[in-house]
Amino acid sequence: MYKIQPNTLFTGKTLKYLSKCHSTNDIAAEMIQSGINVFDGTVIITDNQTAGRGQRGNVWEAIIGENLTFSLIFKPTFLKASEQFQLNVAVSLGVFDFLSEFIDENLSVKWSNDIYCEDKKMGGILIENTLQGYNIGYSVVGIGLNINQMEFDNLRATSLRKVSQNPLKYDLSEMLSKLLENLEKNYLRIKNGDYESLKNRYLTNMYRFQEYHYFRKDGQQFTGQIIGIDETGKLGIETEGGVVLYFDFKEVEFVI
Ligand code: BTN
Repeated sequence: MYKIQPNTLFTGKTLKYLSKCHSTNDIAAEMIQSGINVFDGTVIITDNQTAGRGQRGNVWEAIIGENLTFSLIFKPTFLKASEQFQLNVAVSLGVFDFLSEFIDENLSVKWSNDIYCEDKKMGGILIENTLQGYNIGYSVVGIGLNINQMEFDNLRATSLRKVSQNPLKYDLSEMLSKLLENLEKNYLRIKNGDYESLKNRYLTNMYRFQEYHYFRKDGQQFTGQIIGIDETGKLGIETEGGVVLYFDFKEVEFVI
């Protein structure tokens, strides 16, 4: 059960809790498709997600009741379809800002929207938009954030409690409230058209920004440094030869 009173204008004012479900993103999509009036900022949250979906067709796994697994429905009708990436930026920064209250170092946003602490993943975001004409009608923002889980099969995964070495478990309702406040703050920044400052903050806090590392494209490794993102969110990497290439999400992988 979640009891929250977030200090927000609209985010999290409507909350649907499910003790168990397949995927909160799918539940959110079903609500939208059903034609019922879905309020802006509605949250669908579960303790036990049995078929959590990640990016690139991956699964998202979380131990029951230990972490935050939820979807947030926004209605960003002010955004053109071509501006979708602004949502990735705002949501990643919302999660980043929230975690920064607990961890002061080594936290970063891995392009396009993973939350990392050093070289380990603490959170993942899956944004699925529905278009209305040229604009975005609904955005389902799915967030999986590892909070209290201490053991992971995946060596490249971690949690807030693990990193902060907190002897006590974090209260998930309190964490959700604070997270929603940070998400709304950054969402309102895109609504205000603050794209430039959001992008700067996104780059400043970006994993491996302006550092030479290995990347992989079509099974081939190459060395390069991230130099920025273009207006659609493609990742700009300068290769050793000084050529700058822009990659779509599915086109390039970090070698970690
Ligand atoms: C990723 O890193 O690949 C994205 C993971 C997103 C997981 C969350 S958990 C809540 C929501 N429901 C889903 O099925 N997926 C997202």
